[in-house]
Amino acid sequence: MKVSFAATRPEGSYALAIPVWSEDQIADRLSGFDQAARELAVRAADAQRFEREAASIAESFINEGDRARRLLIAGLGGTRDDDALFEKVGGALTAKLLCSGETKLVIDLSGLNFDGNAAARFAFGAAARGWRYDIYRTKLGEKAKPTLQEIVVVGGDEGADGAWANRAALLEGISFTRELVTEPANVIYPASFVERARAALEPLGVEIEVLDEKQMADLGMFSLLGVSLGSAQPPRLLVMRWNGAGDANKRPVAFVGKGVTFDTGGISIKPAQGMEAMKWDMGGAGAVAGAMKALATRKAKANVVGICGLVENMPDGKAQRPGDIVKSMSGQTIEVINTDAEGRLVLADALTYVQRTYKPEVVIDLATLTGAMIISLGYEFAGMFTNDDNLAVQLADAGMKTGDKLWRLPMGEGYNKIMDSQIADMRNSAGREGGSITAACFLGRFIEEGTKWAHLDIAGTVWAEKPGNLWDKGATGFGVALLDRFIAANHEG
Ligand code: BES
Ligand code: MN
Ligand code: ZN
Repeated sequence: MKVSFAATRPEGSYALAIPVWSEDQIADRLSGFDQAARELAVRAADAQRFEREAASIAESFINEGDRARRLLIAGLGGTRDDDALFEKVGGALTAKLLCSGETKLVIDLSGLNFDGNAAARFAFGAAARGWRYDIYRTKLGEKAKPTLQEIVVVGGDEGADGAWANRAALLEGISFTRELVTEPANVIYPASFVERARAALEPLGVEIEVLDEKQMADLGMFSLLGVSLGSAQPPRLLVMRWNGAGDANKRPVAFVGKGVTFDTGGISIKPAQGMEAMKWDMGGAGAVAGAMKALATRKAKANVVGICGLVENMPDGKAQRPGDIVKSMSGQTIEVINTDAEGRLVLADALTYVQRTYKPEVVIDLATLTGAMIISLGYEFAGMFTNDDNLAVQLADAGMKTGDKLWRLPMGEGYNKIMDSQIADMRNSAGREGGSITAACFLGRFIEEGTKWAHLDIAGTVWAEKPGNLWDKGATGFGVALLDRFIAANHEG
């Protein structure tokens, strides 16, 4: 999507969007049109029961010279308490126009006293909602093809180009994550994930390091490697480093992603129904790779290291069995009760590796870790578990501001001891009760003294069965805006 900013409305053909705080504003906001056209627009909105609800749209046509211009009156909701409102309205406009035949959208903010930052936020929402991945559709009908190609935001142009540069970088990151998450598991497996990340990130100055099976075995990462035993695809540990702080010795922030490129459950195999969804069990790793792309594209002034534990969880004669005991890189032993509780086994070694190698100031892991997360929070909020109250506030705030919303859940000794094993230091699975919390406690056993850590269980937010404000059905890109915002607000300057 081409995006630009201007002081006045352009010439030529386009659909015109007019955001309004109230119904009474419509006539005023159409001041460039003649009286009859304005009155008709007000009546058309009224006839559609337009009551300026946030991101609601009344669609009509308005005469302008000899042109019948498509007009979208967009509600701003009357109050200003939604931090992600402008993005949402931009997204709603694209949702209406994407396959409408219109090629250009002009969002006219003149008279609303919005600055360039606000303008960039409208543009961001509109562009983000336009993302599609049609490479596998060879028979898309003419009317199902996207037509919208260009967005111009008018009347908030002061400082808009600078604000947009950051938003465009974020969009690059989100689009990369969506692509990785959308691709099927015969296309994205550990080695191909690494190659896509390399191609996307190395040109931006991100240093890539990759550990193969042998190197991981030498480090003692048998918790991660155990998950991979049943797969014909060899595992990888991907390390992406962005050193933008100026001081190379400044301790980095670490992002760690669960990258199970397909999760059959292994020998504890999942039911067939819905198993195809487990192609996006690498959504945490996808978010980490996308965040690295956003940060490097906008040259963030922070040191950040992204780690992805990449494996495929398959049943096979070589696969690990329920009851097997593995030794993790930390030295702690794990009884594998359920081979489908594999994400925590992968993250355990990735967490140890990142702490020992990079001494990060903060570690944030993202994982589609538990189905129980969807039972507790549904698809609206992701779960947050952390050992640091200040980090909880920073992340929750970044969540509300970006729309990647987080809700904190408890941890503690009572939950943690549930993960004790009869025969080893811990077990990887226990009862269903509090399943997301006990999973977080398991991960907590791999966090070293003094490391500030948060675990984000994004099982409910990586993939959407229904279109949202900023995405169509499918991959949401959840976590990229969150991590980008978290770095900008707390670790730059
Ligand atoms: N990847 C799944 C969790 C998941 C399920 C994510 C559905 C998104 C949608 C994870 O590896 C898993 O299988 N977890 C088990 C853990 C259990 C065996 C302790 C689960 O949630 O059932
Ligand atoms: Mn699983
Ligand atoms: Zn999984």
